[in-house]
Order: sequence, then C-alpha cells, then structure tokens
Amino acid sequence: MTILITAGPTREAIDPVRYLTNRSSGKMGYALADAAAQKGHRVILVSGPTEIDVPDGIDFIPTESAADMYQAVEYWIGKADIAIFAAAVADYRPAQIAEQKIKKSGDTLTLELVRNPDILGSARSTFGFNGVLVGFAAETEDVEENALGKLERKGCDLVVANDVSRKDIGFDSNENEILLVYPDRIVPLEKASKHHLGHQLIEVVEGMITPSNHQ
Ligand code: PMT
Repeated sequence: MTILITAGPTREAIDPVRYLTNRSSGKMGYALADAAAQKGHRVILVSGPTEIDVPDGIDFIPTESAADMYQAVEYWIGKADIAIFAAAVADYRPAQIAEQKIKKSGDTLTLELVRNPDILGSARSTFGFNGVLVGFAAETEDVEENALGKLERKGCDLVVANDVSRKDIGFDSNENEILLVYPDRIVPLEKASKHHLGHQLIEVVEGMITPSNHQ
C-alpha cells in the first residue's frame, strides 16, 4: 500500500531571518515512516524542517510553511491508500512577511496573524481523499473530548491523541503515550518509544483497509 505521512513542525516567516514555529522534532512522524517502509509499503513523507535523517527507501517531500505542506499534500494524497497527519502545523501565520529584516523601534511590536489552511480538514472535503484518514490531536486538557471533536470535524477514521502538557511524552521526546480515538471506542496504548508505537500504529492502520478505501 501507499502511505502518506506528514511530520515535523512548520515555519511561518516573519521577515527574511525570522519565523514562528513549535517544538515538534518530527520523531513521531519519522518513526511511522520508518515502520511503514520496513513493512514494505511505499511511503510518501511530507515533512517540515527537522534534524532527523530521512529513512531509506521513502519518497521524501521537504516543506517549510503550512502553505507549502498544504500544496504538497494536495498533490500527493491522491496516490495514497492511507494518510497519517502527525505534523504540528501552525494554525496561524504572519499576515505579511516583511521584505527587509524588521528593525527595532518601539518597546512593543504587534504581529498580525491570519489562519492557515487546515490540511487534515481539507483531505476529505477539498482533496476528495477516500482512503483511511488518521489525524493526531495534540492536547493539553480534555484530551478525549477534544480528540473526538477533531475526529468528527475533520472526517477522520481514527485520531491519535497525545497529552502534550507532559514533558516525558509528546513534543520532542523519544517516547509517547497515546489514545486511539475511533468513532465508537477509545483504545489506550501504553507509554513506549515512538519507534515501538510507530510499528503498532502501522499495524493498526493496515487493519483498517477495506476494499472500499483501497485506491
Ligand atoms: O514531532 P515530535 O516531537 O515527535 O512530536 C510529536 C507530536 C506531538 C507533534 C505528534 O504526536 C502530534 O501530536 N502531532 C499533531 C500536532 C498538532 O498540531 O495537533 P493539532 O491537535 O493542533 O492538530 C490536529 C490535526 O490536524 C493533526 O493531525 C495536524 O497535523 C492537523 N492539522 C492541524 C492544523 C492545520 N492547519 N493543518 C493540519 O493538517
């Protein structure tokens, strides 16, 4: 099968030398890509900037901003049977990118931000994707309720929820602890390395393929 995976952070430019970003290292998404490639799947990894070596044998699509990632996913998703969105995409970007480096002036500086497109939220409605759709939910409170809301709003078959208020899991850690949130049930997976969870998750999504969602 062909599995598209998004990973890592996005960078939203402020001026030629500055950007807004977040703490995603890409470890979770790359662990999934590695596990899928090891199982013999074709992997399309659409990644924001990370410091991780690209696993062997995958199609690597580097991106920087949310807008770049949106375009890459729009182009590639039609080739996928399964799409897994592990990237931490910035919800907002600066309304304008200054052409020159912004100079110091007053004591405060106000940046106007505008909404970025929701890539996962566009998969069904705009890109017409009808394969297995897996989102992530990075939550600091009400993890189950928020993940269920995302599952419904974004048309996912499964949402992988993690509590990113914890320092020992989630962003930039080598380990994670996740809840598999389905429309009708929630299955916890024990804390483990992202590598191990990557393998478990690939097995889970393989089991979700049916003749109707196989491209
Ligand atoms: O990269 P690591 O350091 O290993 O950390 C892993 C992780 C914490 C980043 C990962 O496990 C995780 O939770 N990824 C999702 C992060 C996130 O932005 O979640 P969210 O709840 O804000 O977004 C919900 C879903 O919509 C996600 O699948 C996200 O990829 C997607 N999204 C969000 C906004 C947007 N504009 N487009 C999107 O596609």
